[in-house]
Amino acid sequence: MIILGIETSCDETAAAVVSDGKTILSSVVASQIAVHRPYGGVVPELASRKHIEAIVPVVDEAIKKSGKHANQIDAIAVTQGPGLIGSLLVGFSFAKAYAFALKIPWIGVDHLEGHINSVFLENAAPPFPFVALLASGGHTSIYLVKSHTAVELMGQTRDDAAGEAYDKIAKMLGLGYPGGPVIDRLAGEGNPEKIAFPRTYLNKADFDFSFSGIKTSVKRYIQTHPDEFSKQIPDIAAGFQESVVEVLSYKIIRAAMEKGCKHIALVGGVAANRRLREKVIQDTEAQKLSVHIPSIHLCGDNAAMIAAAGYHYLKNGKVSELTDDVYSRMKPGGTEDRGPR
Ligand code: KG4
Ligand code: ZN
Repeated sequence: MIILGIETSCDETAAAVVSDGKTILSSVVASQIAVHRPYGGVVPELASRKHIEAIVPVVDEAIKKSGKHANQIDAIAVTQGPGLIGSLLVGFSFAKAYAFALKIPWIGVDHLEGHINSVFLENAAPPFPFVALLASGGHTSIYLVKSHTAVELMGQTRDDAAGEAYDKIAKMLGLGYPGGPVIDRLAGEGNPEKIAFPRTYLNKADFDFSFSGIKTSVKRYIQTHPDEFSKQIPDIAAGFQESVVEVLSYKIIRAAMEKGCKHIALVGGVAANRRLREKVIQDTEAQKLSVHIPSIHLCGDNAAMIAAAGYHYLKNGKVSELTDDVYSRMKPGGTEDRGPR
């Protein structure tokens, strides 16, 4: 079954053609980073306008590169939420219209389930059930994944997302946007033990996170060391990163132990982080847990993961109606009892 995936929830216009929810025939991602960089973050109105310009050429390119013809597509999967409403509407309305014209079904996909399904596009996919840490610019959550379409939320951030903390700290240090990749790189040149920032575990027995405290600590450090901090940026980056990564690693491993799962998945933009990937693998060695992390290009937003999730929705008879609409916020509790829509 050939699925065209479309993703426009934030600042990437993406389209992909995926066969049987597993084999990527093409994946095109048009990034808007250059548009938003001068503002230090995503400007929603600009994002919607850029999606409108990009959606037709990006979908065209994905179909061309896949070697398939539009009339060989069996269904369209598109991100329905959560995300920026104006951005989501561009992909969602396009997908409705295109599916209607091609007379094929279309499926609204939850963006977070899309990220979770990114592990199935790689060779060694984890068996169910497994636990997943989803860490991105908008979300940081831990899930028990029972099937492709049934995920139970175990915990989430109470304030900033992990990626958001990276982005905000990069902004404070004058490193530009997005902050994750640059802090990842600079941290590699610094000493994580030179400047210690607090680890926020909240309750060590639950799976919630908080990243606003570390942001304040870094801010306070900058304010109290106005003359030195610009020479200490790699050490600040390394100290901040170690504090975030230690908590993420601790909680996802504890989640696996609590649920008796032998497999852990790391997904979302922050799963591209070199230290996080390394730390979770190191920390799980003793427990003999397997860690599944998508290739870097599948960690950030892409449409192949949306097509993969859409394939499994379709197999479970979940297709969308023309009257369905986008949603901006994460569904509470996971997606187990959402039912057909
Ligand atoms: O999943 P994603 O592409 O978009 C959202 O759904 O939010 O994640 C983007 C986030 C940004 O906050 C970015 O700074 C962060 O992922 N990120 C990283 C790295 N690469 C991207 N954070 C830490 N280390 C990285 N290497
Ligand atoms: Zn995302």
